[in-house]
Amino acid sequence: MSAAAKPKVIVSGMRPTGRLHLGNLLGALSNWIKLQADYDCFFFVADWHTLTTKAEQDEESLRERSRDMVIDWLAAGLDPARAVLFRQSAIKEHAELHLLLSMIIPTPWLLRNPTVKEQARELGLIEGDDESEMTRINFGHLGYPVLQSADILVYKADAVPVGIDQAPHIEITREVARRFNHLYRREVFPEPRTLLTEVPKIPGTDGRKMSKSFNNAVYLSDSTEDVEKKLGRMMTDPRRVRRNDPGDPEDCPAFNLHKIFCTADEIDFVTTNCRSAGIGCLDCKRIMIKHVVAFLEPIHARRAEIENDPDHVDAVLEQGNLCARAAAQATMAEVREAVGLPRD
Ligand code: TRP
Ligand code: SF4
Repeated sequence: MSAAAKPKVIVSGMRPTGRLHLGNLLGALSNWIKLQADYDCFFFVADWHTLTTKAEQDEESLRERSRDMVIDWLAAGLDPARAVLFRQSAIKEHAELHLLLSMIIPTPWLLRNPTVKEQARELGLIEGDDESEMTRINFGHLGYPVLQSADILVYKADAVPVGIDQAPHIEITREVARRFNHLYRREVFPEPRTLLTEVPKIPGTDGRKMSKSFNNAVYLSDSTEDVEKKLGRMMTDPRRVRRNDPGDPEDCPAFNLHKIFCTADEIDFVTTNCRSAGIGCLDCKRIMIKHVVAFLEPIHARRAEIENDPDHVDAVLEQGNLCARAAAQATMAEVREAVGLPRD
């Protein structure tokens, strides 16, 4: 078999945030759905990663949030027949590899990781940019990129689709793969490439970035009525106070959704009539809302089917776990041998 005929291995994970919103779909998830057609994909629920920043979980449990997220994965079109969909915490080999990699990752690589630092700052755990601040965070949080490296290397990934914020973690993954191969004088791990995910600008209903924590999100599982209501109230160019005040689509949060969902003719029409005050904002938004509703319709239909079969999600994950575990076990046998431990 020629090298080109071998499907490339892709690995990516998502922290279980519960139900997904349009921003999640148009960013990472739609990219995963595209990739599953052409690659050997391993996509997982990164539940251990959630615990690195919040060891005790409240309200909805991690289990429920994982489940809700996976329902949205399936409803949006991730296909368990084409991609391995599984739960990180079900594959203990990730933890074992995390441990072994932690023996060879220099602490300074972790202390200077900009993504962990930013996350710690956002959570109010540290202030400023000084590396000495990082002594305040937990050991597990500092090791966030170590666990992520293990997630990736345990499947010998060739490429990892992530947003730009995650790029430093993939860089550490490459460095640790190189270091491992060098130290133990075996080519165990390929160095995975970063497949940068283009994330279109998706504002929430208040104009800020769409986010669960801002309470401004349109969820894939929202009813048509709720979608119409939420988007009908979505923020527009503040200059359009009265019906005949002209506006500029470039200053209108709602127009970002027009750009994604409307036809070129509709976008032209909206642009002209916004600037001439030829159309009111609600009518203008209705042109876009119609498309969003139509886009969500098949997702709602699949979601209803999935919810009719309460065991479906567990069955999908069970099957994915088996497949992922087999791959991870094969890698770990090689890893243990390289390190000088018994193979099993
Ligand atoms: N840290 C990633 C995020 O927050 C999730 C993640 C965990 C991941 N393990 C991974 C992504 C491995 C890619 C590969 O989005
Ligand atoms: Fe936005 Fe349309 Fe209103 Fe212009 S007319 S501000 S593009 S909603």
